[in-house]
Amino acid sequence: MARHLITSALPYINGIKHLGNMVGSMLPADVYSRYLRQRGHDVLYICATDEHGTPAELAAKERGLPVAEFCAQAHDAQKAVYDGFELAFDHFGRSSSQENVEITQHFARKLNENGFIEERAIRQVYSPADGRFLPDRYVEGTCPHCGYDKARGDQCENCTRVLDPTDLLNPRSAISGSTELEVRETKHLFLLQSKLQHEVEAWVTAHEDQWPQLSSSIARKWLTEGLHDRAITRDLDWGVPVPADTWPELAAEGKVFYVWFDAPIEYLGSTKEWADQDPANRDWKSWWWEADDTVRYTEFMAKDNVPFHTVMFPATQLGVREPWKKVDVVKAFNWLTYYGGKFSTSQKRGVFTDQALEILPADYWRYFLIANAPESDDSSFTWEHFTATVNKDLADTLGNFVNRVLSFSKKRFGEEVPAGAEAGEAEAKLGEQIAGLLAEYETQMEALQFRKAAAALRALWSAGNSYLEEKAPWLEIKTDKDGAALTLRTAMNLIHLYAIVSEPFIPASSRAMRQAFELADDTAAWVSAEEARALAFLPVGTPFTVPPVLFAKLTDDDLAAYKERFGGE
Ligand code: MF3
Ligand code: ZN
Repeated sequence: MARHLITSALPYINGIKHLGNMVGSMLPADVYSRYLRQRGHDVLYICATDEHGTPAELAAKERGLPVAEFCAQAHDAQKAVYDGFELAFDHFGRSSSQENVEITQHFARKLNENGFIEERAIRQVYSPADGRFLPDRYVEGTCPHCGYDKARGDQCENCTRVLDPTDLLNPRSAISGSTELEVRETKHLFLLQSKLQHEVEAWVTAHEDQWPQLSSSIARKWLTEGLHDRAITRDLDWGVPVPADTWPELAAEGKVFYVWFDAPIEYLGSTKEWADQDPANRDWKSWWWEADDTVRYTEFMAKDNVPFHTVMFPATQLGVREPWKKVDVVKAFNWLTYYGGKFSTSQKRGVFTDQALEILPADYWRYFLIANAPESDDSSFTWEHFTATVNKDLADTLGNFVNRVLSFSKKRFGEEVPAGAEAGEAEAKLGEQIAGLLAEYETQMEALQFRKAAAALRALWSAGNSYLEEKAPWLEIKTDKDGAALTLRTAMNLIHLYAIVSEPFIPASSRAMRQAFELADDTAAWVSAEEARALAFLPVGTPFTVPPVLFAKLTDDDLAAYKERFGGE
């Protein structure tokens, strides 16, 4: 059994995320983690809130809260939503933790010792009206590349290019709106990424064949454009302080590290937070120290995060000259759109994760989102597609099967798995088909092809329906009672199989299916192809109960109400 380290891009602290964020990072990471755990692997799934930088300061200001207090509250609010979605993190940390401060400062000292950090005086935007420097998002203006007029000083949301505040045309302060901005000189630390270009290139070359094409093509594009030296400190109140032992002058001026310097380091920081909760049993370094490289590390993120994870963070890790574990597989996602347009936090367009849970339980969302994950291309969320998918796949194909089989059997044979005839030809054919689909599911999940894994799962559910339609036990029972009992017993074994293999996608419904049967061994451990083929997990006589309807069918009125509330088209 292997050790799997899994991380999903750290959600920014400034507000509840929308469904597009969920499907592009945390949810697939959770599905994959659950699958690997079921298969008996040693899995560590780590995430955290990304708390530093101008977005946090600006959001705190908007709420009129001290930034530390704002972040503590916002962290808890996000965590509550992720609990609602049943994201089974081993730890959901905070990039503002003491653990991250220490590791970030350690990385900076090492980079400095190895000649990869330089102090440079640079010209920064200063706002006399605000009495401060304006880093990153504190300046807004027009993107010099695409002309978008709400571009922020760190990145253009429209063309995704990384910017410097001084690049913006017609700049204005995001705090006061003042356009009377000056440029003043101040000292900052620079990470000399250009010196690491060749090493990063060699590292990417050695690893990219394990990455999906989306990840490697983005990494290649960045390498072709060349790695530039970057300022890794900022004039902000909130962040990891520059260590005074190494840079006394900058520390005295209150400089902190740039959020994109400390955020990926929080993958390590959060792992240490996890270990610090139980130091006797948890060794964080064994997950991150390459000396004993038995760990396979998979990262999940949306495509805008790929440059940071395939090029910049690896450059940092290489420059530290210590054997920190680097990523093995970078799984990237395209965008989920809302009726073909952008989900937008700032314009409140689309569906937010807290609202989604107000409407329907997590399983509905989890299944729909993964089955339609924007893997090879962007994919569009529409309420029409969502309600149709829920009704067809979840309510009709899966939910109805479970209910029909158990209620009918209860009525005719009582509340135990019935005995009946020996398995025959139809069951052998079904077992063959199930074993094949299970193998397909496993292959796709291991290849991180989530849509295809969902399709295989759906095919497993459909196979049960076809079998039931073909055998029609409600007719069979009139002429062949033993045959009908065999059909129902086989269908019940399918329900037990569904409970296990659906668990990564729909954990709550899977629990309900599993608990329908009173089994001594109540685990969701995986089943082999052999066991699946035999379809005989449930001893005859096992007591069962009929669970409440698993998935409610959504009506035209529901659809109209969703579109009314969230806007469609
Ligand atoms: N907060 C960033 C975003 O939402 C992602 C940070 S990922 C990490 O785009 F590498 F910094 F951790
Ligand atoms: Zn632009």
